[in-house]
Amino acid sequence: MKRIAVLTTGGDAPGMNAAIRSVVRYGTNNKLEVWGVFRGWWGLINEELKVLDHRSVSGIINQGGTILKTARCQEFYTPEGQERAFQTIKKHDIDGMVVIGGNGSFTAAHIFCTKYNVACIGIPASIDNDINGIDETIGTDTAVNTALTAIDNIRDTATSMERIFVVEVMGRDSGFIALTVALAGGCEEAIIPEKKFDFEAACHDIVNGNLRGKISWIIVTAEGAGRAEDVAKKINEITTLETRTVVLGHIQRGGRPTARSRDIALVLGRSAVDCLLKGLSDKVVGIAGGKIVTVDFQKAIAKKEFNLEGMYNLIKQLS
Ligand code: F6P
Repeated sequence: MKRIAVLTTGGDAPGMNAAIRSVVRYGTNNKLEVWGVFRGWWGLINEELKVLDHRSVSGIINQGGTILKTARCQEFYTPEGQERAFQTIKKHDIDGMVVIGGNGSFTAAHIFCTKYNVACIGIPASIDNDINGIDETIGTDTAVNTALTAIDNIRDTATSMERIFVVEVMGRDSGFIALTVALAGGCEEAIIPEKKFDFEAACHDIVNGNLRGKISWIIVTAEGAGRAEDVAKKINEITTLETRTVVLGHIQRGGRPTARSRDIALVLGRSAVDCLLKGLSDKVVGIAGGKIVTVDFQKAIAKKEFNLEGMYNLIKQLS
């Protein structure tokens, strides 16, 4: 292994830059030439890549987003797109690739590395924390803390004006952000895609609480479970109480990565290079139970298992 390429694909996540820095620095320190591919798979198809040296990743460890840019590239799912990407790999004599992204990125990486026998190692980076077989993706901790700051702010006005707020968070098909911030933010309800939500029971609690003098509520909804507007409308229809909505949206994707998001990124950047040096491929590196592990791409993209019932119950026990 002499020359490797690194790219970021799919939705950006805070800490991706720290991962790039780790791959470039550890790779070059181990006598590898490291190429950066721009805009994910699109850059491989369109031959947008350049050598990254030690200095080129200076001063990025604290920055959100990705200096390599990122994109969602449908063309990569076509045989023509894959063939063009492979031609770029061949032309530049690239022996292995580090793919920093989420489950869409790993689905594509699995297809690519098995079809063309190009070594690919994935580094999990996505705010959704939906990669199976590992504890936490790069960016999750930052996104959760960004959402939590917003919820703490909302609490001030919700309490002062005695109102019901419905706050929508990201996560695609995962309820991880919603559950985590609802618990840490002291919210009354979390609506998540993994669990059927009982509107009648929740509204019954709200009305009863109201009679006892509890007037302000914060209900967190995961985007994949229900949009804030729809949830608020339904609560209003059942309870007749006035509600306000907040959609946190892409605010959760940006900002300065937390120490945890950076540290995971730095550890996994090194591990990904080590995997390529050992001749491994078709795998994701991650941390599970405090240990560095590798998980096959196919397992990593399956539905993530986590103890959502435990977290959900705690929210209800403490509200
Ligand atoms: O996968 C990360 C994520 O932020 C999801 O939580 C969200 O559903 C999606 O990306 C939004 O994608 P886009 O920025 O392409 O609209």
